[in-house]
Amino acid sequence: MPQLNRAPAGDFMRPAARSRVGSNSKTNGVGVQVEETRICVVMVGLPARGKSLIAQKVVRYLDWLSITAKCFNVGSYRRTGTPHPSASFFDFSNKEGERLRRAAAEAAVVDMCKWFRKPDNLIAILDATNSTKSRRRWIKERCDAEGIETLFVESKCDDEELIMANIKEVKTTSPDYVGQDPEEAAKDFRERIKMYERVYETLDEDETDLTYCKIIDVGSQVIINRIQDYLQSRVVYYLMNLHIKPRSIWISRHGESMYNLSGQIGGDADLSARGQQYAKLLPSLVSKSAGDRPLTVWTSTLKRTGQTARYLPYEKLSWKALDELDSGVCDSMTYAEIEEAYPQDFKARDEDKYNYRYLGGESYRDVVIRLEPIIMELERSENILIVTHQAVLRCIYAYFMGVSQEQSPWMEVPLHCLIKLTPRAYKTEEERFHADVPAVSTWREKGSKAEHSVPTPGQVSSPVLQGVEKESAQVTIS
Ligand code: ATP
Ligand code: F6P
Repeated sequence: MPQLNRAPAGDFMRPAARSRVGSNSKTNGVGVQVEETRICVVMVGLPARGKSLIAQKVVRYLDWLSITAKCFNVGSYRRTGTPHPSASFFDFSNKEGERLRRAAAEAAVVDMCKWFRKPDNLIAILDATNSTKSRRRWIKERCDAEGIETLFVESKCDDEELIMANIKEVKTTSPDYVGQDPEEAAKDFRERIKMYERVYETLDEDETDLTYCKIIDVGSQVIINRIQDYLQSRVVYYLMNLHIKPRSIWISRHGESMYNLSGQIGGDADLSARGQQYAKLLPSLVSKSAGDRPLTVWTSTLKRTGQTARYLPYEKLSWKALDELDSGVCDSMTYAEIEEAYPQDFKARDEDKYNYRYLGGESYRDVVIRLEPIIMELERSENILIVTHQAVLRCIYAYFMGVSQEQSPWMEVPLHCLIKLTPRAYKTEEERFHADVPAVSTWREKGSKAEHSVPTPGQVSSPVLQGVEKESAQVTIS
């Protein structure tokens, strides 16, 4: 009888980490070989250049890859003593302001160094303007003393219109301006930026000994210097792919399949009659929420996703990486059959569903690794509609919504439902559009045998689009 098959770290993906003398290699949770280096990503740039947004995205991306990361935002440290400063607080000739700001930076660095003492804590982001050469040199020295590498990431942008839009989008609602008139807040923030502009020094030739990545005009130009190891290059590559153009990502499971009806997992079955109805309704469902925006459709290589996307009038691309989680020896079995044939495995999967790897198949952790290029491509792209499978959809959704590894494999994602994700500053908005076509539920609750259940009468009525229901929920990225 097969035994618990926990995915061992590091046995299937070994990118060439460039080892330097004295540094030991080890593998992180997702089996990616990393050096035993700890990196402090030091944000650099004037206010309202997207530093916090970039920092949060990097943390979410690394968390999703099981690389422990944390953001240390100096603004929050400053806010404990000076919650509502006016622009003059940031005037560099204001000695008291200067002292308090320095103390906030010091407190953040001290906490960060403490945090790095825990073995698996690998990447910290020091989120502040760090706008002078002397401040950057001080951080580098502090990190050098602790054996922490530094990667400076500058966001440089002089597009006045974009900066004003940024101020209106995020700064007028900042805790710094609670209860204040948004117009006044915007004016004050503009003044604050002027204070910084007087002393701001961009990363330049004097600092070529530093490891850095300079992102100019939201990535239209990127300058990189002295990138030394695998983790650093991975972060930089991610940063190079980010953009802030307005766009949405639509995700849907394939229509109900013949296997869904019989409760079997995996396989390469055709759509059921109701699945085909969903495929026919999908174009109207999409155009209701996308209008006439240009879209590209991504499917897996399995028949049921191609059949679901068949009537969509857009360019299509099929990806092997979007195929359903491989259930190995359990492919084509029902959950009840698996429980009977492999009781220990069935229990083990419930205990740690994210890490459990089917014998001869995959775990959720494995799926995340193969989805990483998909995420990178999604970050580079604009409007994309993905037609894929339950487990894969959960992993993609978890990336955008910051869902934990404990929760994501258990999320309920109904068939015949289109999910629209719209990235905004600091959060991703979610809307769900249900097609009025009945389908079985393939969701199995932890600890249950869960035969795939049939829809309860009245739950969904007739197979027509006029019943498309719009559910809107805003979820904030943690
Ligand atoms: P502060 O120094 O006040 O904390 P910040 O640089 O951290 O400011 P954010 O709060 O992250 O700025 O600003 C978010 C805004 O910046 C969003 O409106 C986002 O669209 C925009 N943005 C994101 N990336 C960039 C970029 N590379 N260049 C300019 N703006 C960007
Ligand atoms: O039942 C539909 C399905 O897509 C299966 O093919 C797949 O094995 C399963 O869902 C993944 O969901 P879970 O990880 O909850 O078993």
